Amino acid sequence: MITGASRGIGRSIALRMAEHGANIAVNYASNKEAAIEVVREIESMGAKAIAVKADVSDETQVSEMMEIVKEKLGPVHILVNNAGITRDGLLLRMKTEDWRKVLDINLTGSYLCSKSVIRDMMKAKGGRIINMSSVVGLSGNAGQCNYSASKAGVVGFTKSLAKELAGKGITVNAIAPGFIETEMTDALSEKVKAQILGEIPMNCLGSSEDIAEAALFLASESSRYITGQVLQVDGGMGI
Ligand SMILES: NC(=O)c1ccc[n+]([C@@H]2O[C@H](COP(=O)([O-])OP(=O)(O)OC[C@H]3O[C@@H](n4cnc5c(N)ncnc54)[C@H](OP(=O)(O)O)[C@@H]3O)[C@@H](O)[C@H]2O)c1
Repeated sequence: MITGASRGIGRSIALRMAEHGANIAVNYASNKEAAIEVVREIESMGAKAIAVKADVSDETQVSEMMEIVKEKLGPVHILVNNAGITRDGLLLRMKTEDWRKVLDINLTGSYLCSKSVIRDMMKAKGGRIINMSSVVGLSGNAGQCNYSASKAGVVGFTKSLAKELAGKGITVNAIAPGFIETEMTDALSEKVKAQILGEIPMNCLGSSEDIAEAALFLASESSRYITGQVLQVDGGMGI
């Protein structure tokens, strides 16, 4: 189950995991066509997939979505809490609505989706939860108080849930991407992009496939003894 899998990083994770034989629930918020296209690509690889619409910050929509997923694909073994948004602006000018929206989707969304799958994972005596944080959740960023607070919250959530579930065979880890080329970062001006590039020791931007490789590892048996960790995939940006 991958939230926000219609585009960007979520889409790449969905395709990479499907290549490795996983059946995928492709969650989206509004972009139905894009989600259906991801489903088609997954099916062409021989795996099963469904597109499921839900706003991850809405408890009722999340619980209805999880019922559909369970009915069509069975209980969730791997949950990737990837859906996320930005509403950037300096704090002085930030609207409370933009603070709440970012916290609701990025942090409460991870809480709601995780809560709705862990009972089945506990029954199955195993599972994987992978949460999408960000380099700015660890270092902060001017203009992103709401976003970086939500992503720092994801780190605390990951570590606490990892401790709660470690004895049940369920691992909970986070990925902290650096600057990844997607529609989210397309919105930034060339000047800001050049500035960010100057802060990346590897001197290049990341791709959504770079994040998909990390997610694949954290979902696999190879990472069975790793929990509560934040894997930075950022070309050295967070060093
Ligand atoms: N790109 C970066 O440089 C970067 C860096 C660090 C962390 N991240 C994190 O990585 C994750 C993915 O980012 P991205 O760059 O791939 O973003 P993106 O290209 O903007 O895609 C966002 C995805 O989230 C979905 N979404 C948005 N609001 C949602 C909601 N309320 N409920 C369910 N789904 C929702 C969108 O669905 P629709 O298509 O239906 O709108 C879309 O599939 C985010 O958590 C982001 O914060 C990104």
